[in-house]
Amino acid sequence: MRVRSATAADIPAIMELERQSRAAAHWSAEQYERMFEATPPSLPHFVGLVIEDESGIQGFLVGQAHADESELQSIAVRAAGHRRGFGSQLLTEFLEQAREGGAKSVHLEVRESNQAARAFYEKWLFQESGRRKDYYTGPVEDAVLYCRRLS
Ligand SMILES: CC(C)(COP(=O)(O)OP(=O)(O)OC[C@H]1O[C@@H](n2cnc3c(N)ncnc32)[C@H](O)[C@@H]1OP(=O)(O)O)[C@@H](O)C(=O)NCCC(=O)NCCS
Repeated sequence: MRVRSATAADIPAIMELERQSRAAAHWSAEQYERMFEATPPSLPHFVGLVIEDESGIQGFLVGQAHADESELQSIAVRAAGHRRGFGSQLLTEFLEQAREGGAKSVHLEVRESNQAARAFYEKWLFQESGRRKDYYTGPVEDAVLYCRRLS
């Protein structure tokens, strides 16, 4: 199992995985393609990571780096691979890259009812920092905002 930067060639596999996960954020191919247009050191830029083994991509993470903060926009692991540390490997790499890029904090938002993701983020020391009322649709639901300060 290894974590590496995503490339445009990974978009079909990322979209296939994302569509199998109801809780994941759903993006169009164009949105994923835009990810690869702005690269470091330009800011903001996207960060795309995948975790894979010999059978293919098992998970991915997409985020955005700003001047002094980063945003985790989407993370998903294949259902068969849950609770095996894959999400943690992706998040660890993202936090490391954010820290190296000068970010002081990482932000994200998640559906209030997504208990698995909330437990995952809380395990990784994200703290609730706010709420957006009725932010999500289908079904309508609040977004819970989380923040983790980086030392
Ligand atoms: C959230 C997600 C990425 C976590 O990935 P994962 O590879 O299963 O996570 P890990 O194995 O690294 O879990 C690390 C820790 O997070 C917590 N955790 C993860 N899933 C959990 C669950 N379903 N219930 C409770 N705690 C959970 C646990 O503390 C876990 O440690 P443990 O297994 O030793 O108890 C995965 O559940 C997923 O793909 N969910 C669907 C997509 C999604 O909701 N994305 C986030 C919103 S965009």
